[in-house]
Order: sequence, then C-alpha cells, then structure tokens
Amino acid sequence: MRDFIARPEHGIVWISGASSGIGRALALKLAAEGYKVAVTARSHEKLVELQAEASGLSGNIIVLDGDVTDAEDMEHVLASIEYEHGTLAMAILNAGVYLPVHAEDLNRADFEKSFAVNLSGVVNCLLPAIRHMKAKGQGQIAIVSSVTGYGGLPTGAAYGATKAALINMAESLKFDLDKMGIRIQLISPGFVDMPTVGKSAFLMPAPVSLEEAARQIAGGLKSRAFEIAFPRRFTTMVKLARLLPYGAYFPLMNHLTGWRQRPPLDDHHPVMPHPAE
Ligand SMILES: NC(=O)c1ccc[n+]([C@@H]2O[C@H](COP(=O)([O-])OP(=O)(O)OC[C@H]3O[C@@H](n4cnc5c(N)ncnc54)[C@H](OP(=O)(O)O)[C@@H]3O)[C@@H](O)[C@H]2O)c1
Repeated sequence: MRDFIARPEHGIVWISGASSGIGRALALKLAAEGYKVAVTARSHEKLVELQAEASGLSGNIIVLDGDVTDAEDMEHVLASIEYEHGTLAMAILNAGVYLPVHAEDLNRADFEKSFAVNLSGVVNCLLPAIRHMKAKGQGQIAIVSSVTGYGGLPTGAAYGATKAALINMAESLKFDLDKMGIRIQLISPGFVDMPTVGKSAFLMPAPVSLEEAARQIAGGLKSRAFEIAFPRRFTTMVKLARLLPYGAYFPLMNHLTGWRQRPPLDDHHPVMPHPAE
C-alpha cells in the first residue's frame, strides 16, 4: 500500500497542545503552507491569539478547545472536525508536560499527571482519530516523543518513561496501521530552546530554536521516514549511546548533562521549576 502523505487538499491537520511552544510554531508553519489546522489545548485565549496571528496566511486555524486527559472532550473535538470543518487528514499528537522528578523528593502526583497527559492523553486522541481514518482507508498520524525516551536521563523518571512508552506505542501500531493505509510517524526532538525557558535542572546540549523545530517537523511530515529526529547529530549520538554497556552509558550521560556536579537535593538546592509548567 502506498504511503499516505497529507496535503492541504486532503483535509484538516489536527494539532493537540498548540497553545504554546512546538505545537504553536508548527501550526503557524503548516498554516503558512496552506493547510487548514485545527488546534486544541486548554487555554482558549492563547488559541484565539494564534488564530488571529495566522489570519494573513494561505491556510487557516480552527480553534477547538479541549483537555487531552478527557476522552469525551477528544471525541467532541474529532466530531467537530469531521462534521463541521472537513475530513481529518493528519493528527499531530503533541500535548505534553515535563515534570522533573528528583529521587530525593518523590511525589505521586508528578507521575500521575505525566502519565495522564503524555500517555493516556495520546490514547484519548488516537482512538477517535484512527476510527475516522479507518473509515476512509487513509490518514497520517504523528506522535511527539522526545530524545529522553531513548534512555534514562536525570529528572526523567516520569517524563522519560512516558516518552519511551510512546516510542513503543508508535512502533507497535505501525504494523497494523500500515495495512490500513494510515501512516504513523514518531517525532523525536532533542532540546528545543523555548523563549520562556528559564534555567532547567540539567544542561541541555544542542538546543534548536522553535522555528527550526517547526521547520524540521513540517519537512519530516512530508517524508517517508518513520522517525523525525532532530538535531540529527545529537539525536543519533544519544540513540547510539543507548547501545553502550551501562558501565559506559551512565558516566557518559552524567558528563553530558552536567549531573555529576549537581549536589544532592536539599533545602539549599531547591528544585528548579520547568518552564513548560
Ligand atoms: N521543549 C523541548 O525541549 C521538547 C523536547 C522534546 C519533546 N518535547 C515535546 O514536545 C511537546 C510540546 O512541548 P513544548 O516544549 O512545546 O511545551 P509547551 O510550550 O509547554 O506546550 C505544551 C502544550 O501542551 C498543551 N497541554 C498541556 N496539557 C494539556 C492537556 N491536559 N490538554 C490539552 N493540552 C495540553 C499546552 O496547552 P494548555 O496548557 O493551554 O492546555 C501546550 O499547548 C511535548 O509533548 C513535549 O514533551 C519538547
């Protein structure tokens, strides 16, 4: 079966988590290329601002509020796309949260929220998206994972675990979706230099700008590659590092992230909040 690549004439591109960051930048990029882009997040005002910003572009933005942790919300969003705006041609499942986990200060809520948004949230979007695409025998899906899903990294006990699960989820679904005419891809960004980012808990090597991230993703969505990973050299290096014996992997990652120099967490070294939160 030929790979389906969604073009503007095929219908709507849906992006979850488009009120800020990568999802927002990608929505603008795809709208500039002529796509009709349905954007979902909880922050209605920010989505409306995004819609206004895209008003001069050749495509356009449709605002569809929703919380990915609410399965019914996602069913409504998909019904609204299909019955009010057009066919769902592509779903980019991007909504996610990064809650740094420190073993000295564990709390259940960080794990539960990460799993609810990053994992169950993707499942809540996938179910209606695949159902609609299956009925038409075509469609394109891209799941946003992260280089942190390749292997354990400092602070990633919840976030990295969800991203590793998404990698496995996308790989596993591909076997069946290929037969159904639905193309699934994995988006694996390295570190994206967000304008609002303060100091993170560890060094983030090889950051790329939001614009570059959107450019890489938009290009990759039109390629036949299963994985859209960038920046290429850094993501390849982390993937190869995962093949090392653990005796070499942990010292290398300690070095690359600067984690070895970081003192254990205590009252004098409070957790740095992550800007994505
Ligand atoms: N930034 C990086 O360096 C980096 C690297 C690799 C992968 N990623 C991944 O890229 C994706 C986007 O992250 P970002 O860096 O662009 O972060 P961001 O600016 O914080 O964007 C996250 C988006 O997800 C939405 N969101 C969060 N919880 C939601 C919920 N319950 N329901 C619906 N939408 C929700 C947020 O909108 P509302 O709050 O308005 O709902 C926002 O639009 C995430 O999956 C992240 O893991 C980021």
